[in-house]
Amino acid sequence: MFHIFPDTSSIAEYVSAALIDKIKSKPGVVLGAATGGTMEPIYARFVQQAHQERLDLSQLISFNLDEYVGLGADHPKSYAAYMREHLFNYLGFNESRHHLPDGQAKNLEEHCVEYSAKVQQHGGIDLQLLGVGSNGHIGFNEPGTAFDSRCHVVQLSERTRIDNSRFFAKNAIVPASAITMGLQDIMDAREILLIATGESKAPILAEYYQNDITEAIPFTVLKRHPNVKIIVDEAAASLLPDSVCKRTIEAYV
Ligand code: F6R
Repeated sequence: MFHIFPDTSSIAEYVSAALIDKIKSKPGVVLGAATGGTMEPIYARFVQQAHQERLDLSQLISFNLDEYVGLGADHPKSYAAYMREHLFNYLGFNESRHHLPDGQAKNLEEHCVEYSAKVQQHGGIDLQLLGVGSNGHIGFNEPGTAFDSRCHVVQLSERTRIDNSRFFAKNAIVPASAITMGLQDIMDAREILLIATGESKAPILAEYYQNDITEAIPFTVLKRHPNVKIIVDEAAASLLPDSVCKRTIEAYV
């Protein structure tokens, strides 16, 4: 079932409220964080709402899904910079509790193993936020990635590099590779919210609906997860049959 919302602002409202509820019930919640355009209105609403409620975020722990190889945390297009810009610079976040893969790690393979292990040392992810690429990737797990993968280095597909070129200056080169948490790391999360907005995501959502679980469409692995919600706006839902769309905005439970 796909949970359909009228627009991105109602999705932001809903996901932000879900995050706030989680943090209230478990201040040291371990959040799996995503970046990208989909998350921007959600983080903006969360910052606003957390501020209004004077929510204590000092115990919150987060692990980001991915980072570009070669970009240090100070690079303006790194995901570390994205997280500071959209979240960490607000509300007294404690940076030592917020983790991202290091795109400039000396030994990338070793770093990946350590990153997956660190997530587990913290008790695993309680709530994982996910966007989805137009080719079905989650994190940067491109089509063909093994379902049992852990954190690893990935060569980005041409499609993903073109999609993400909108975040870079006109003639800048989008990095060719990235570190990403693996599909098994994602599936280990206790709860998952996948959010897809805009008409560019409509074809891949239709593919998700029409296909069985297949490594060719990485996010189909989520069909095996016991606690996942797919949250979609009307534009992204435009190719889905009504029979699989739930339009009631129920209270977050
Ligand atoms: C980013 C990430 C990616 C994005 C996906 C969608 O941390 O994990 O899987 O969620 O590429 O990106 P947007 O939201 O920009 O369409």
